Amino acid sequence: MSRNILVTGGAGYIGSHTVLQLLLGGYKAVVVDNLDNSSETSINRVRELAGKHGSNLIFHQMDLRDKPALEKLFASQTFDAVIHFAGLKAVGEKVMAAHGCKKLVFSSSATVYGWPKVVPCTEEFPICAMNPYGQTKLFIEEMCRDIYKSDSEWKIILLRYFNPVGAHSSGYIGEDPRGIPNNLMPFVQQVAVGRRPELTVFGTDYGTKDGTGVRDYIHVVDLADGHIAALSKLSDPSIGCEVYNLGTGKGTSVLEMVAAFEKASGKEIPIVKAGRRPGDAEIVYASTEKAERELNWKAKYGIDEMCQDQWNWASKNPYGYGSPEPTK
Ligand code: UFG
Repeated sequence: MSRNILVTGGAGYIGSHTVLQLLLGGYKAVVVDNLDNSSETSINRVRELAGKHGSNLIFHQMDLRDKPALEKLFASQTFDAVIHFAGLKAVGEKVMAAHGCKKLVFSSSATVYGWPKVVPCTEEFPICAMNPYGQTKLFIEEMCRDIYKSDSEWKIILLRYFNPVGAHSSGYIGEDPRGIPNNLMPFVQQVAVGRRPELTVFGTDYGTKDGTGVRDYIHVVDLADGHIAALSKLSDPSIGCEVYNLGTGKGTSVLEMVAAFEKASGKEIPIVKAGRRPGDAEIVYASTEKAERELNWKAKYGIDEMCQDQWNWASKNPYGYGSPEPTK
């Protein structure tokens, strides 16, 4: 029998790509998502992309804070592990424990490194919160460590994502933020398709190669594969509560990223230079050694592939999942 994984928030950007990789890897995936910030279209497209594995995907539109519904779901079947993407603080760990499911993969973020004193960031660096989003990540990381301390049967992996970009190479699933995008690449993508006139570059006076902020951009399919590697690691008897960075180990500036996207898309991205965005760090990139060594996982794609795949998704779906149905 293939392993049955509960994926919370599985209709979102990273969730949908991970669900696809799970299905292709022979897992069964049960997705719960309240669709507050995502679309059921992504689920339907993942099912199609998974081909013969598509029938191993079950979707429940459900809010994780609805404890009776969660109880009912856990009572109806056995889950081998939970991958928690949903941007909610209710992890439902009491429900998990009550049903004997004590394996969890949680989405944390490189935001917990704040403005690092040196790079690359290793998992042992001190952690802090620069904003409310970072606070929720810190808080849930702490909760996970406490859960493990109080009951050593738990196996928990905290994945600290760097900057996920790109899309599945089919261009059939990708990122579709609601409202004005906060992040660089969704914004660049909307400029490229004509939804916004120009990109504002926040900060050109950093101590970096060209003065703009440096980040570790990682292809979302590599990131998704990192979750499959983490799931395998949960079967290792020695694991307790562990943290892994998911990044490429390479730093890229805003201007380098814009240039790579222009090359991939053939579109010019007009820019306006502005002051620094409050709370932004100068240079953040990952040490990838621990994930390579212990998860046996390494990112495969570089920024050119990230930009090509992002443009493929953008040009086929200029208005995200609200666009007319694209051809595959
Ligand atoms: N940037 C711009 N213009 C924009 C948006 C971003 O110049 O319109 C710049 C930023 O100043 C930064 C870089 O592009 O130098 C990347 O910014 P993002 O917002 O894409 O990514 P951040 O690394 O700043 O933050 C993101 C998420 C956080 C998350 C973090 C993880 O926004 O929530 O990645 O590292 F925690």
